[in-house]
Amino acid sequence: MRMSCIVERKSRVVKEKILITSALPYANGPLHFGHIAGAYLPADAYARFERMQGNDVLYICGSDEYGAPIILNAELAGRSPKEHVDFFHKINLDFFHKLEISFDHFSRTTSAFHPPIVKEFFLDLLKNGYIEEGTTEQLFSQTENRFLADRYVVGRCPRCGYEQARGDECGRCGASYEASDLIDPRSKLTGSPLTLKKTNHYYLLLDKFKERLSEFLDLKNWKQNVKHFAASYLDEIRPRAITRDLEWGVSLPIEGREDKVFYVWFDAPIGYISATKEWAKTRDDPSAWEKYWFDPKTKYIQFVGKDNIPFHALFFPAMIMGQDQPYKIVDELVANEFYNLEGRQFSKSDGWYIDLDDFFDRFDSDQIRYAIAANAPETADSEFTWKDFQMRCNSDLLGKLGNLVNRVLVFVQNRCQGKIPPPHELEEADLRFVSEMHRLISLIEEHYRNFRLRRVCSSLMELASLGNSYFDAKAPWKDAKEVKNHPFMETTITLCLECVKVIALTSSPIIPKTAEKIWKMLGQEDSISTQQWQASLERTLLPGLSLPKPSILFKKVEDEVIEEEVEKLKKMWTTPKPRI
Ligand code: 2FM
Ligand code: ZN
Repeated sequence: MRMSCIVERKSRVVKEKILITSALPYANGPLHFGHIAGAYLPADAYARFERMQGNDVLYICGSDEYGAPIILNAELAGRSPKEHVDFFHKINLDFFHKLEISFDHFSRTTSAFHPPIVKEFFLDLLKNGYIEEGTTEQLFSQTENRFLADRYVVGRCPRCGYEQARGDECGRCGASYEASDLIDPRSKLTGSPLTLKKTNHYYLLLDKFKERLSEFLDLKNWKQNVKHFAASYLDEIRPRAITRDLEWGVSLPIEGREDKVFYVWFDAPIGYISATKEWAKTRDDPSAWEKYWFDPKTKYIQFVGKDNIPFHALFFPAMIMGQDQPYKIVDELVANEFYNLEGRQFSKSDGWYIDLDDFFDRFDSDQIRYAIAANAPETADSEFTWKDFQMRCNSDLLGKLGNLVNRVLVFVQNRCQGKIPPPHELEEADLRFVSEMHRLISLIEEHYRNFRLRRVCSSLMELASLGNSYFDAKAPWKDAKEVKNHPFMETTITLCLECVKVIALTSSPIIPKTAEKIWKMLGQEDSISTQQWQASLERTLLPGLSLPKPSILFKKVEDEVIEEEVEKLKKMWTTPKPRI
């Protein structure tokens, strides 16, 4: 076998257009690793993988900046809604940068590109008979001169009499009800009494799409949990109010109704389109967005958390079906389960969270990216634990991957004059090693395509272990002692370097910064992020090329550090917190 084609495999020639979106995060509080595990890291790794396949990938996201909870939290924080969303948009964007999430564009629903498209959707749906106006009664505060959404309301529970019952459910007896069922309802913010008052709203007649949505779902080969969730929601599908009496939101394009705004779940998914339109403008090619949204050949993949499934599987597809533009409807809906922190949901207000500034002072983005990917909540809820994080960092990243890279590159420095050795004939053990590498590369590709990051990570570790075992079994340090055996040593090292290259490449969608470092340590001058997968697999590491002195890829995560983190978490949880 010739060395120049150690990895010689069939290339995929068809270039696909792939539109990827991650659920737009609310600009209403800091994001945490739970969000990242659900909708962002899986999408980012997939986007990176497909870019390397030579596909035309566009990865879009942005802040979701409307909705009643934003108004409520802004008021509680003493900010205007605009100041509030500006504040969290920036914090969340900074978090995404730290985690190396490679959006092609990150917009916000307060962008000027957004309202015209929302209004166009509404007017089309109205004209086509999918929206109707109706009258309902809602709680109104004379003092505040406004209707109050459920979450602004407290009152006496109609079942157990608890005085501080919330607008939708009682915190003491668990009863759920309409806010109007509360006895003596009052405003959560001012305590003012509330009375029922008639108001008009617009309803999206989702029931009219039942059959089309059912046919649409039947054709999808989505994960069982997603299909199941969507199908049971579809059984009960009913008209849904899409307007609110609020001052913050996209206002209605109807004369005399401009004081109403759209319900946040009506405008937010349209944010995927408006953000793409804004992206096109930033590229001085204003119609470039149509190339993705209007082409039926585009493959459109949405990544969301499981609580967002009905909106993406049914609500947004129905909105698209009922309006007049040829927008793409989602092809793949990748909905992950929840990712908790040490057995409980992440919650900043309960003190159950990880301070991100502290985290990034101590650890590296690739460590957390890998730890999340290796334990991603793909088929069931999963969790971040400090012990698991330590194990992933020390045993996998450092012990397997880092160890292989380091021992091979140090060997090159010490025994090969710092140069890539020349190739020689391969023996049985070498051929077996090459064929195992091929098998693992194919598996890794398949797992990326199927959005299975946990499996990618375990195959990557298998690859690193394979390299380590081959190095141990071939014992090149023994061959180095006798000149006549140098060709054997050189073959071993050439193949180990090949394995290191394959690891750099195949791990780069998950640990991009580390992969880039390895790439540079292999003497490559270009960037790994711009590599084409197949071409790089086939690229020969040039014999005779001098390699730089290797540096350590990962530091050991010491027990004391983990103990400190666990203590910090426990302390935050037990410290009384001001309640909002
Ligand atoms: O659940 C959430 O965080 C929502 N902000 C997701 C919106 S996704 C899309 F529709 F914009
Ligand atoms: Zn009660």
